[in-house]
This record gives sequence, C-alpha cells and structure tokens, in this order.
Amino acid sequence: MNSAASVTAKPIRVALLGCGTVGTQIVRLLTEQADELAARVGTRVELVGIAVRRPNKHREVPAELLTTDAAGLVASPDVDVVVEVIGGIEPTRTWLLAALTAGKSVVTANKALLAEHAGELFEAADASGADLYFEAAVAGAIPLLRPLRESLAGDRITRVMGIVNGTTNFILSAMDETGAGYAETLDEASRLGYAEADPTADVDGFDAASKAAILASLAFHTRVTAGDVYREGISAVTSADFAAARALGRTIKLLAICERVFTTGEDGAPEESVAVRVHPAMIPRSHPLAGVSGAFNAVFVEAEAAGQLMFYGQGAGGAPTASAVLGDLVAVARNRVVGGRGPRESAYADLAVRPIAQASTRYHISLDVADRAGVLAAVAAEFAQHEVSIAAVRQEGRATDASLVIVTHSAPDAALRSTVDKVAGLPFVHDVVSVMRVEGEDS
Ligand code: NDP
Ligand code: HSE
Repeated sequence: MNSAASVTAKPIRVALLGCGTVGTQIVRLLTEQADELAARVGTRVELVGIAVRRPNKHREVPAELLTTDAAGLVASPDVDVVVEVIGGIEPTRTWLLAALTAGKSVVTANKALLAEHAGELFEAADASGADLYFEAAVAGAIPLLRPLRESLAGDRITRVMGIVNGTTNFILSAMDETGAGYAETLDEASRLGYAEADPTADVDGFDAASKAAILASLAFHTRVTAGDVYREGISAVTSADFAAARALGRTIKLLAICERVFTTGEDGAPEESVAVRVHPAMIPRSHPLAGVSGAFNAVFVEAEAAGQLMFYGQGAGGAPTASAVLGDLVAVARNRVVGGRGPRESAYADLAVRPIAQASTRYHISLDVADRAGVLAAVAAEFAQHEVSIAAVRQEGRATDASLVIVTHSAPDAALRSTVDKVAGLPFVHDVVSVMRVEGEDS
C-alpha cells in the first residue's frame, strides 16, 4: 500500500479500557488494519496500554501493554485518546471525566453511562475542547447516532422506533421461530457475547431504555435520561402470548419508541413534548421489524423533510461493535490531526418528557372468561365506560370457559389500565392472561 508518504503527523496514542468481547476485537482490528487506518487518519494510531481486571487471562494481547491501573493509564501523558469498553457507571464515569478534563478525546460503547451522565461528560469535553463519540453505544455496528447527530441535523425528527437490544431479539425470535425456551436462549446469547455482563440489563429492558434515552436526546435536542424512559422487559412474555399473536398474524418484539408529541396547552397554544418508552409489543408479521431476527437490530427514523428512513444491521457482538468503535476512533483521530472537533451536545430544545399514562397505543387483551350469555356485553361495557374503543373481538369456547381476545383502537395508557382493573374484577372473568401493546398498525 502506498500510504506511508502521506502519514506525517505525530501518532495518535490510544489507551484501551477493557479487553473483553468488544475490546479483543478492537485490538485485532487496530493491529490488522494499522496501515490502512494510518492512511485514513493521516498518522498512525498506536495502542499504548490496555486496562483489564485480570491480566493473566489475556494471552491474546502483548503482555507489555496490559495494566490493572486504569486510572494511571488514563492520566498518562503518553495518551491522546481513551477508548472505553468496560461498561457500568463507576469507576468508568470517574475515568472518562478525568480523560475529558485533561483534553483527551473519549470513544465509548457504554450506553448505561451515557444515559445517566451524558450532560456532565459533554460539559467536561466542552471545557477542554475534547471529543466525545459513542456510536457503538446504540445498535452495535449500525451507523445510527452519526446520522442523527450530523446527517439529519438540518431536519426535524418526529419519531424513532425500533429494535435496539440484540439479546432480547435473539430470545424472542427463538421463542417465535422454534418454540425454544427463554432460559436456554438467554444462555446462548451470553455465550455468543451479545448479553451484558449482568443479562438482567437486557431482559428487564434497562439496556434498551438507556439506548432509547440516547436516541431521544439526539433526535429531539433534549436531555433525556434512562430514568425518563418507561420500561418493561420481556421476562413476562410467554409462549401463550406468541400463540395469541400468531393467531392474529402478529409477532412480538421488544421495541424502543421515542416520539415528539404535539398537544394544545390550557391557554390554547401549541405545545411540544417527548415520550420515550421500551416494552414488548405485538406487530403485524407484514411489518419490516417483524422480519428482524437473531441479534440484529433495526430502527425507523421519521423526519419532517426526509420522511421515513430505516437502519438495519448487527446490533451486538464483538466484531460488529468494534467496527463502530473504530469508526469513532478514526473520526476523533482525524479531528486531532487537523485540530478540529466533532459535534457537541445539542440539548437546546429542552422539551418536557411525558409520563407513560398519557401515551396512546392499541392494546391486545387476552381474558379467560365464563362462556355464557351477557359476558361479552358486560366486558364491552367496561371498555365503553372508560372510552376505550374496541377494534376487534375474538372468542374461542372451551367447554364452560372461553378465551376472549380484545384488540382496541389507540387509547391512553391510563384509560386502558383502569379498564383492565375493572374487567379483572368482574365475577365471570377468571383471569387476565395478558395485556400487550400493538404497534405498527393504523390506530
Ligand atoms: P466484557 O464483560 O466482555 O468485557 C469487559 C472488560 O472490562 C473485560 O476485559 C474486563 O477485564 C474489563 N474490566 C472490568 N472491570 C474492570 C476494571 N475495574 N478495571 C479494568 N478493567 C475492567 O464486556 P463487553 O466487551 O461485552 O462490553 C463492553 C462494553 O461495550 C459495555 O459497556 C457494553 O454495554 C458495551 N457494548 C457491548 C456490546 C456487545 O455486543 N458485547 C455491544 C455494544 C456495546 P477482564 O477481562 O480482565 O475481566
Ligand atoms: N447487550 C446488548 C444487546 C449489547 O444485546 O443489544 C449491544 O448493545
């Protein structure tokens, strides 16, 4: 390759924090592609240290690079850029703040940290003029944050909806396609390197909620934290839910939905807010997200001028995530070579975040009821009482009992909850088998 002639600037010296599923692949790509990266950046990108917990475990990387002293590595004058792939809030927050304060650019895949502390990390970056890049934090290999931060910076985004957690999509796809059990599929996702160190972060929806917070912050120019996101995981999703979904031509996905909401205030003036939620939802099998299986992710972005865009690709795993990290590393290295900076935080809109009770969706409600005259009418009356409009009803008799499935038109969460509470108390309703939102259909 004829690249050496153009590579003249001082090398960019990189500290890597963490060398697990993702870190190992970063080291591999940095080593294998060293010459090409140098040509793209305009100088060599050199790995000068790798912080881990257990150095003896890491025979795949040069021993002289390994250290257990992450704080010391970050503080070293020989480091220009810190790449963090450890995860968790502390001590990574302290280390990354120290790096940014010292003017060292940071590339991180840590969505949990960004969804809680993006504000203070950006403030530290602004104060020193350093870069903070985090493409790998959402949707693995898929270039999604850069399009939101840069390509769509001239448009108004109205909605972001998609599958942003590979582990839960891997589990739900297996439950749907092969009838595989929940626990064995989760073990497989961990073995393949998709799951978080604590996989409850995946199955309880925390990981997707962190990603939704990051997406909403970028899309709506508003600081949204993980705590602002309504969250339900997949641990309550059963094979019976899949059977019910299948009977109506649907499947079940864990969705992250970020919306710009337009309302009228008490004074009659138009108001804007944002609503951000993560929960399992039934979607039609004809919907493009229904075909996204395994650890793949897919995200729809709707913008006023651009219309609908779809981003699709591998959402988890070592090599795909390392690809996104390296893309960021090249960007911050290029910025350092030319003395420039990437985009800063954009939170000027400062929109309010709406509570879930005000969010409207369609619902699929499955009940076990007594099979006798007047039951359907009495259940329907409760829906009417709470102004929840019914779109479809399906009843299947089983001797003296019946399975009653009701699909609603779009209704506020609060009204639906009150309706279900009332229905559950009716003497002939034996069980509320499941209540699940329905997305991807006309309201
Ligand atoms: P792993 O658990 O595989 O690796 C974590 C690494 O961090 C290990 O090398 C570990 O050291 C090191 N480490 C942990 N604690 C410390 C500490 N106190 N000091 C120094 N080193 C420490 O995680 P992943 O590679 O899967 O994930 C890393 C990050 O990337 C997380 O933020 C995750 O959310 C994010 N991410 C992961 C994706 C994936 O598909 N795996 C996809 C997108 C983002 P040792 O090996 O010695 O124990
Ligand atoms: N545990 C995460 C997932 C890794 O399954 O999507 C990618 O962020």
